[in-house]
Amino acid sequence: MIKLHDKYFKPFISAKEIDRALQRLVDEIAEDVGDEIPVFVGILNGSFMLTSDFVKKYPNTCEVTFIKLASYEGVKSSEDIQRLIGLTQDLTDRTVIILEDIIDTGNTLHEVYRIFKNEKVKSLKIATLFYKPEAYKKDFKLHYVGIEIPDKFIVGYGLDYDGLGRNLPEVYQIKETQHMTNLVLFGPPGAGKGTQAEFLKEKYNLVHISTGDVFRYNMKNETALGMLAKSYIEKGGLVPDQVTIDMLNAEVEKNADANGFIFDGFPRTNAQADALDKLMDSKDSQINAMIALEVDDEVLVNRLLERGKTSGRKDDADETVIRNRIKVYYDETAILKDFYAGQDKYFGVDGVGSIENITVRLSSVIDNL
Ligand code: IMP
Ligand code: MG
Repeated sequence: MIKLHDKYFKPFISAKEIDRALQRLVDEIAEDVGDEIPVFVGILNGSFMLTSDFVKKYPNTCEVTFIKLASYEGVKSSEDIQRLIGLTQDLTDRTVIILEDIIDTGNTLHEVYRIFKNEKVKSLKIATLFYKPEAYKKDFKLHYVGIEIPDKFIVGYGLDYDGLGRNLPEVYQIKETQHMTNLVLFGPPGAGKGTQAEFLKEKYNLVHISTGDVFRYNMKNETALGMLAKSYIEKGGLVPDQVTIDMLNAEVEKNADANGFIFDGFPRTNAQADALDKLMDSKDSQINAMIALEVDDEVLVNRLLERGKTSGRKDDADETVIRNRIKVYYDETAILKDFYAGQDKYFGVDGVGSIENITVRLSSVIDNL
């Protein structure tokens, strides 16, 4: 991963792949051009690297020139194309091939056609190394296309983000979500998970996703996923992991600019942990840590019995029930502890002490991620 200005980018197309695509373009063009001496016209700035590599590979005699246009501001294409350096030589009766680094909306290409409208060239053809078909809004024919890519911002191999990245020999794609800290928070009943989640949420500007809340929200508001979940529950079955993951996905998407998420109540099984990894991966992100609050059973039992005296929660009143809930927790999380420990992401934190002290312990784990 690399960072340019304020944004993160991930490796996307290797130098080798670029080289192969370039070679294919050279081969096709050389074959079509035959004995003519073509003029290759690079569109600056982006195509300086491509043009240089291209003509080095070109097997026959050729000429090279440039025009310089500018359109992009930040990560957005603009309609307003500036002509900074136009054609500086007579191209009458010449075979002209435009070399573009990338064709996005096609606005730049439109300007190229305007430039050539009054030139009496023999033929004008367009070659582009990268092409974003989903973004292209014009209908000029693209004669030679190196690699088709999705409509996402890329840098490297001549392409820049506000001036940076042009020198990179490979291509990087903007990350779907920018840098996030995602935590899976665990703790036996009575460990103070809810209290700590509130603090962490504030301190790190994270979004707390409690699976229980997400379920209740979706069912209460009768969302499509909520209704689906309900149909399983009413038949007495378990809600399939995919339904839960889809709900979590919706929560993550709702909060796309969050600094990260605290997952609470999910995952519970290896399969769910795998599914969560895949979900994070699809957002170009990852789970950074599983943090488990560790509290001795006897302390938990006492805390819960205390709470039961005032909370009125039935499951906090009976010691056998409490001990069983604690046991279920350890049975369930033992597997997940192994799962995350296997990825070096398991952090046990001592959950006995004052609320502030425990927050400090949790913070020191997060700050060191
Ligand atoms: P178009 O005019 O929208 O087709 O965009 C063409 C120009 O925008 C290119 O020559 C690039 O300078 C710039 N551009 C388009 N997409 C990208 C990108 O993903 N990264 C960097 N520059 C881009
Ligand atoms: Mg360009």
